[in-house]
Amino acid sequence: MGQSADGRTRNQALLSWVDEVAALTKPDDIYWCDGTKEEYDRLCAQMVDAGMLIPLNQDLRPGCFLARSDPNDVARVENRTFVCWDDEVDAGPNNNWVAPDEMRQTLNGLFDGCMRGRTMYVIPFSMGPLGSHIAHIGVQLTDSPYVAASMRIMTRMGQGALDVLGDDGKFVPCLHTVGAPLDPGQEDVVWPCNETKYIVHFPQDHSIWSYGSGYGGNALLGKKCFSLRIASIMAKEEGWLAEHMLILGLESPKGEKTYVAAAFPSACGKTNLAMLIPPAGYEGWKVSTVGDDIAWIKPGEDGRLHAINPEAGYFGVVPGTSTKTNPNAMTMIQRDTIFTNVALTADGDVWWEGKDGDPPAHLIDWRGDDWTPDSDTPAAHPNARFTVAAVNCPSLDPAWDDPDGVPIDAFVFGGRLSTTFPLVYESTDWQHGVYMAATMGSEATAAADNQAAIRRDPMAMLPFCGYNMADYWSHWLGFAEKELKLPKIFRVNWFRKDGDGKFIWPGFGENMRVLEWVCDRVHENLDAVEGPLGNMPRYNDLNWTGLDFTADAFSGIMDLSRDAGSNEAEAQKELFDSFADRLPAQMEDQRQALLQEMQNAPEVWRVAS
Ligand code: GTP
Ligand code: SPV
Ligand code: MN
Repeated sequence: MGQSADGRTRNQALLSWVDEVAALTKPDDIYWCDGTKEEYDRLCAQMVDAGMLIPLNQDLRPGCFLARSDPNDVARVENRTFVCWDDEVDAGPNNNWVAPDEMRQTLNGLFDGCMRGRTMYVIPFSMGPLGSHIAHIGVQLTDSPYVAASMRIMTRMGQGALDVLGDDGKFVPCLHTVGAPLDPGQEDVVWPCNETKYIVHFPQDHSIWSYGSGYGGNALLGKKCFSLRIASIMAKEEGWLAEHMLILGLESPKGEKTYVAAAFPSACGKTNLAMLIPPAGYEGWKVSTVGDDIAWIKPGEDGRLHAINPEAGYFGVVPGTSTKTNPNAMTMIQRDTIFTNVALTADGDVWWEGKDGDPPAHLIDWRGDDWTPDSDTPAAHPNARFTVAAVNCPSLDPAWDDPDGVPIDAFVFGGRLSTTFPLVYESTDWQHGVYMAATMGSEATAAADNQAAIRRDPMAMLPFCGYNMADYWSHWLGFAEKELKLPKIFRVNWFRKDGDGKFIWPGFGENMRVLEWVCDRVHENLDAVEGPLGNMPRYNDLNWTGLDFTADAFSGIMDLSRDAGSNEAEAQKELFDSFADRLPAQMEDQRQALLQEMQNAPEVWRVAS
């Protein structure tokens, strides 16, 4: 191996940066990735030899592997994630902050010699279609072959990105190490990582330093670190949006195409919605997938907002995936997939909680231990993930790779909320929509460690906005002042529960019924009822063909009690206060208006049928 930079690039900034990092981290070898399939296969074979990957049964899952992480390296580490603005207030209460000089000193110490005994991979990549005016180039340096292989799946990686970069193009430098000491006798560490973890962003030079983790969002730096934290800063500077959103296309039987971008917090349903298959009763409708996690959205010359999916693959939650919930994903992960932290069956297949059928009598769980249905721990880690190329997705939208992106007609925001919040409502205007999105809350999931049981997660961006969230709201509000045809804004909640703690709404494919209403509102086919929270559908405005869902059940997910609504409006004050004078005044105006609405509301506000 040991491919050098020779003939690959004459980009002096890149060549010097690679030299500089090598001098600091002292790898045994430097390897420039070309992004070919041969290279990917070689990396995987090498990891199989080292015990880092287990090949699965090639008849059942061709081209698939299982990776087991260190049990302490299974999710994003939000309290070890930092954004180092000069001034703490620019990071906002939504980010951990350390002064840049102090952080650089700490990191220089940690990175000194951290790649000794290992190869440093140079990974050029494009976030977005190669050469797209909405796309940006990054280069990741890492000592993890798992990261190098994953980056080939998740991004447009290799020589193509270097060609777009050219001799003097700009790139986001992404430096990563698993940071584990490689002492003699420790070569058999299967998933290297360090107890000490730092996921650090420097806004001034748009750079990223990640130490000590090999897990997805901490280590595949093109994803949350670049495409959201750094990109949100670039977007603010340049007048666009970098969002934690899926993008899907909806084509009606009449051939009308609507593109929706939807933000839900981690592990709250983006991948599932992006790959939705319409239920019975929706013959003639087509749903297609542009992206499942991130959207970069720029105003186009036509005055509309155009979105690309900067990624080229999916790093999705495995547990809960079945032929009932997400048949497209089941097909997608049948081949050429890296599974991380799922269980292994006796015949070399994979298993997870929520997969079709009964659990097998015996499994090797995600830690590598024996497991039976009597075990009291899950066989797959709740945040087990698949890594798979977008082209594997059966519902991939024809425009998924279009350098101009797709025009967005609606933004949908949704949290995981067992009480109070209705299935769907629509904002009355842009400002109200921004307020609805900004005050969103959600219950904890396994996608990040140490999360509060329930927290505000504005725009599903709380862990991902690279600057003061109040300034981000101002940025969003500012779009109303531009000459643009802006998308309509909606809130949804698939997760309201009944008295027995069961989800009331069947969710998954049935979410199509809500999406159809969104399309109807976008194309002005239907009027709506004005409620205290926003505009709502009547029972009869939704298409119930093929689903037994009564008007009473509908009440159960649409009603708003005066007390719950008032408490919500009151509770939002704490969020707003945390931003002090950075809070845009329009947000508090909106809150006051909701308080007023709730005071005048009946004890239970109910949408008429
Ligand atoms: P990240 O990749 O972490 O950003 O997650 P995501 O937003 O893509 O979430 P995903 O679609 O992977 O879903 C996460 C979990 O929510 C899975 O266990 C799903 O089964 C479950 N889920 C998704 N959609 C629905 C729904 O409509 N109803 C219910 N009840 N659960 C859902
Ligand atoms: C999320 O946590 O929102 C994910 C997985 O999509 S990660 O890549 O870890 O961010
Ligand atoms: Mn995500």
